[in-house]
Amino acid sequence: MWGERDRPSVEHISLADAARIAVVAPATANFIGKLANGIADDMLTTALMAFNKPVVICPSMNVNMYRNPILKANLERLVSCGYHVMIPESGDLACGWTGEGRMPEPEAIFHEVKRLLGPRDLDGLRLLVTAGPTEEPLDPVRFLTNRSSGKMGVAVAKRALARGAEVTLVSGPLKVPEPTGVNHIQVRTAAEMMDRVLERFHESDIVVKAAAVADFRPETFCEEKLKKEDFGTSINLVRNPDILATLGSRKWPDQILIGFAAETSDAIQKARVKLKNKNVDMLVLNDVSQPGAGFDCDTNIVRLLFRSGEDEQLAMMSKEDVADQILSRALALRRMAHH
Ligand code: C5P
Repeated sequence: MWGERDRPSVEHISLADAARIAVVAPATANFIGKLANGIADDMLTTALMAFNKPVVICPSMNVNMYRNPILKANLERLVSCGYHVMIPESGDLACGWTGEGRMPEPEAIFHEVKRLLGPRDLDGLRLLVTAGPTEEPLDPVRFLTNRSSGKMGVAVAKRALARGAEVTLVSGPLKVPEPTGVNHIQVRTAAEMMDRVLERFHESDIVVKAAAVADFRPETFCEEKLKKEDFGTSINLVRNPDILATLGSRKWPDQILIGFAAETSDAIQKARVKLKNKNVDMLVLNDVSQPGAGFDCDTNIVRLLFRSGEDEQLAMMSKEDVADQILSRALALRRMAHH
């Protein structure tokens, strides 16, 4: 790649300029280590260093290499820098071991590429997304919270951005890297989330409320750490404001409002009531008692409920794919509301 002595090669730059997307499959532990640490000493790593469009990385290696904490840290670094890291498949590995580390099927990689290059159909729309749990402090060291990781809301924010929307993400403490390219506003409590969301609501075309907002907060916040002796056997709680219901009561007809509902029983019936009471256009229902759905995992199984009374059950899919489905429905609802 270094070319003639008198004619320096810039092929790595022309390659980077020519492509709309780059895929590294299989991606070895060595390559991932180099990319994550800015080492550019061959054609691939130099071309990627000059590449400012989507990059898909497909880690493929022995299961113990894949579980190595250094490799994991390198992958996290790449994800936080905006690289798209595919999760390897589990099964028989070339080395004779069984476990995660197989390169995803070419079809799966193709699907990811297609998605990343997909239409910019949300161009010109402003999206407001909430994600993650809220924390309701009792004193400086203790708080009430829930198991939300923020993955679903972050997936919505990322996909909306990729499809051309201008995205504001208001989130509680996330357990996943914050997405790059979105306007991210971090909050802690439900009350803060309410304030930040209301500030931006009037300028939003589509609002997706994926946050798991705490319904209650401790009645009093103690500035000093409470001592054992200060505790009784109960904590008094007060209701938090319902952000979604507040937005529902204030929204314009052409603003599309989407809520989430996590239920463990009588899911559909409860969700229908919520859809109506909170005046939302679409409710995404996940039955968190099913494996492969709900909190903290990378996949979700959802049913979409509409104001018209229709509903649609989606198969198990990645949270990014669920996000795409939600956004496509939101766009259709928006177009209907506009005409
Ligand atoms: O009623 P439930 O909490 O199950 O409704 C869930 C939906 O309502 C989610 O979209 C969540 O973001 C929203 N919500 C809210 N404010 C609350 C509680 C829930 O916006 N205080």
